[in-house]
Amino acid sequence: MRRAFIAGNWKLNKTISESVEFVNAVKASVAGATGVDIGIGAQFAALKSLADACKGTNIKIGAQDCYWEESGAFTGEVAPAMLIDAGCSFVIIGHSERRQFFGETNETVNRKIKAALAAGLEVIMCCGEMLEERERGVTNKVVKDHIVNGLAGLTVEQMKKVTVAYEPVWAIGTGKTATPAQAQEVHAFIRGLLKEIFGEATAQSVRIQYGGSVKPDNVKELMAQPDVDGGLVGGASLKPDSFEKLVNFGK
Ligand code: 13P
Repeated sequence: MRRAFIAGNWKLNKTISESVEFVNAVKASVAGATGVDIGIGAQFAALKSLADACKGTNIKIGAQDCYWEESGAFTGEVAPAMLIDAGCSFVIIGHSERRQFFGETNETVNRKIKAALAAGLEVIMCCGEMLEERERGVTNKVVKDHIVNGLAGLTVEQMKKVTVAYEPVWAIGTGKTATPAQAQEVHAFIRGLLKEIFGEATAQSVRIQYGGSVKPDNVKELMAQPDVDGGLVGGASLKPDSFEKLVNFGK
């Protein structure tokens, strides 16, 4: 059985004090959320304070990107080991916003994933089609491209530290959630790809999160799908009461 994994992706939101305040507000109520891994992906400057605030809680902290080099003349970049030093245990890589606005490609995604894993971080790798691609009927082709190239060269052992997030771009921040059936269809397709690349055991153990307008009132039916193992949540992860409801989806 795959353990559920609900992660907030706070994107470009919350100052350090707002981040710490959030954790202090939710830590007691999420402590009882059993059978689920809980994560928050926050902006770089807040990571250390946030990770300190999460010590002794069941909330893991992650970054929203990293670079593949360990150090050197790469102005503006942050290395995986530096994220670990700040208290992170995971990093989100290949989010569609990075692909759309910051020139992220499957090749850079792949390099970043390898560097993050080598440093000891867990990885959430995002994939998903744009609206125009869905309408052209090339959803599977796009997702396959993201999966095959993004995870190229990884070993079965390394895949134990990887979560895949399927995030249809048309569902992100739009309030237009994929139906549970639409999500399940692509998740099953992704699991089939993982089987082709890494074999049955890995395909069965890798968690696939759904992301795109996940809310307290739709999380349960999404999570009820056989191949939906978690959520990567933007907007609805920003408010304590909504975050608490998301991680307690099973109750
Ligand atoms: P929303 O939940 O705001 O649609 O964002 C989803 C997302 O991009 C998570 O990474």
